[in-house]
Amino acid sequence: MPAGLDSSKLQIQTNSKPSSPKANNELVFGQSFTDHMLTVEWTEKDGWAAPKIQPYGNLSLDPSSAVFHYGFELFEGLKAYRTLDNKITMFRPDMNMARLNKSAARICLPTVDGEEVIKLMGKLIEQDKHLVPEGQGYALYLRPTMIGTTAALGVSSPDKALLFVIASPVGPYYKTGFKAVKLEATDYATRAWPGGCGDKKLGANYAPCVLPQKQAAERGYQQNLWLFGPEKYITEVGTMNVFFVFKDAKTGKKELVTAPLDGTILEGVTRDSILSLARERLNPEEWTVSERYYSIHEVEQKAANGELVEAFGAGTAAVVSPIKEIGWNGKDINVPLQPGKQAGALTEDVASWIADIQYGRVKRGNWSREV
Ligand code: COI
Repeated sequence: MPAGLDSSKLQIQTNSKPSSPKANNELVFGQSFTDHMLTVEWTEKDGWAAPKIQPYGNLSLDPSSAVFHYGFELFEGLKAYRTLDNKITMFRPDMNMARLNKSAARICLPTVDGEEVIKLMGKLIEQDKHLVPEGQGYALYLRPTMIGTTAALGVSSPDKALLFVIASPVGPYYKTGFKAVKLEATDYATRAWPGGCGDKKLGANYAPCVLPQKQAAERGYQQNLWLFGPEKYITEVGTMNVFFVFKDAKTGKKELVTAPLDGTILEGVTRDSILSLARERLNPEEWTVSERYYSIHEVEQKAANGELVEAFGAGTAAVVSPIKEIGWNGKDINVPLQPGKQAGALTEDVASWIADIQYGRVKRGNWSREV
């Protein structure tokens, strides 16, 4: 019987040249990595081998490995935070493990016991805990990745795989920090479609989105607002989920809206956290929180009626990213910001609700997992 993934079999080989922490202002997202990485090999015959923590370094793979030819690759992104009382906690790692398993199942890679991987990530963080930065906006970004390593060119289910986790001390995702961005509404390229894999975190979903992003950048927009279908439904922004706030001109009631999880939308952990907190904390007499289809036409119409209140992207890397303008059909839709500020009022509230939990100022159930 093939072996399950077992954290108690962990072997640790320490890095003989530990690095010193960088100053926070030198931390650029995903540019530098900690001293160690976690690797676990899998074969169909024997299952998961003993997990290893070893010095960060190159992998050695046969050039015919499935990952290089047919895109057998998935990844996750989560963060570990140094809290006010100097503990290190991972934010909702169980959500990432559940999504990792859904991605793995979709591309015929092995699934894992998520709790075992969480324990192993805890050991990896412990090994390099001096490199976990301190301060609001700073964290250790963890990148669990799984690849198919079968060395053969036949297109089939890999019988060998490698799970690895690397870790990067990070500051704000955008160099500009918490600053509102301009989006280009994109309908000439499609990020995901019904029956596809847009809800899975596969590398193959990301590479094709870089060209439209470069094209938007040439026209002065930082990111794409991804539209779908003849209705021009709003789906995501860049690599993030997206939320809009509308206010009914007649009733004054506000709506926080994001696209529904219909298989084309990434099941974002930040998205889920925002929806949970908004449903708990926003007064239902003043607010509706909706997961529904809405289109760029609706946004354009609401902006014209003065009913568009604010908009923001939501993801692990940037957490919350305010939006100030949307280029669409040769015109710019202006998204209001608070006077003299870089975000709307709810965008600011949501960012601090989440940061308060991540940095341990507010306790919330099992969202923070101590290392
Ligand atoms: C996120 O965390 O928002 C992402 O998916 C970005 C990552 C691909 C760098």
